[in-house]
Amino acid sequence: MTTKIINIVDQREASSKSVTSSTSAHTPFFSDTRGRVLRDLRISVTDRCNFRCTYCMPKSVFGKDYLFLPQTDLLNFDEITRMATLFAAHGVEKIRLTGGEPLLRKNIDVLIQMLSTIKTIDDKPLDIALTTNASLLFKKAQVLKDAGLNRVTVSLDSLDETTFCAMNDVDYSVAEVLKGIEAAHKVGFKSIKINMVVQKGVNDKDVVAMARHFKGSGHIVRFIEFMDVGSSNGWCMDDVVPSAEIVHMINAEMPIVEAKSNYTGEVAERWTYADGSGEIGVISSVTQAFCSSCNRTRLSTDGKLYTCLFSQSGHDLRVLMRSGKSDKEIADAVGLIWSQRDDQYSEIRTEETARMKKVEMSYIGG
Ligand code: GTP
Ligand code: 5AD
Ligand code: SF4
Ligand code: SF4
Repeated sequence: MTTKIINIVDQREASSKSVTSSTSAHTPFFSDTRGRVLRDLRISVTDRCNFRCTYCMPKSVFGKDYLFLPQTDLLNFDEITRMATLFAAHGVEKIRLTGGEPLLRKNIDVLIQMLSTIKTIDDKPLDIALTTNASLLFKKAQVLKDAGLNRVTVSLDSLDETTFCAMNDVDYSVAEVLKGIEAAHKVGFKSIKINMVVQKGVNDKDVVAMARHFKGSGHIVRFIEFMDVGSSNGWCMDDVVPSAEIVHMINAEMPIVEAKSNYTGEVAERWTYADGSGEIGVISSVTQAFCSSCNRTRLSTDGKLYTCLFSQSGHDLRVLMRSGKSDKEIADAVGLIWSQRDDQYSEIRTEETARMKKVEMSYIGG
């Protein structure tokens, strides 16, 4: 058996991790300490955003002086494509482009075109999805579709103008987001998902209106429990609206029935309208953790691999690429990282862990 030592240095957290890599793997799949097989890669293509959602990039932290990553730190398109190809060769079937706001990344359609040529282990095309605030969707929907993007998810936290403006904190109007969704629909994106992060006393009053607005449209609204991602959103348990309450509120007005998951590791619990007019989802990371089936990993804007949304540090793959490591060496390093993974943050969350320093969601992607 050949064994190599690869030093994986995490520059951002100034900590260093030594990874012993083995080349004796018999299967291309990566399985962690809890038997969770890596299937889903989320890539943050920029840490910048033109919104300042109070639960994600509050202005008090992400103000004018905030130091975003310099251009040279970003993985370039060749590097991203190289990583995506490598992960696909090891079982990844879905790639989600995130940010920050991914549509702010220059020539994102070129990246999508490059990713769309990658095949999974089963020789199928990768499922390429993107999560956006929709501010540039009206302008870019067609070019994204033409580039080979398969699916779009739009963040929209309220249909009430005052509430939405207060939440995005840049006075961005609901109508503009709806225009973006409409444009995506027109160019042929199907089952567009709408993500609504629900915060008690902020937008929980808007849950039923949101469900009603999209009922029958073919789009799928997902209500997300407010989470303690990062260290700047001032999360506390009192601000969380349990998904069970959301289901109850919607069911009281428009009866819904629980539905089966579409795939193993799906984070949303699906509910369909009893009258057959579509579905909604609830994502209960706080009240009903789904770590036991978590098959996701995240690649930050500057090429660090995070095995959990709540990680405190990542593994620098960029340094491996830029120091000339081969695909095999990098794949071995990733395999070893994954084999040692025991993340289960949402299952062990307390008010205390919530106060720990963690990476920001805008940097590792949603
Ligand atoms: P589909 O591929 O359409 O099933 O979507 P998805 O599950 O990849 O959904 P999306 O990326 O839109 O995730 C929705 C939200 O769920 C994210 O914005 C996060 O708030 C939350 N979320 C997604 N993945 C994780 C995860 O691994 N852990 C936790 N705790 N929350 C997650
Ligand atoms: N809790 C839950 N979801 C969040 N998102 C961002 N921050 C949080 C948080 N603190 C979600 C947004 C968006 C995606 C990128 O991540 O709704 O859809
Ligand atoms: Fe930007 Fe999305 Fe974060 Fe809002 S949730 S600040 S739109 S990255
Ligand atoms: Fe996966 Fe971490 Fe989220 Fe649990 S908390 S589901 S391990 S990303």
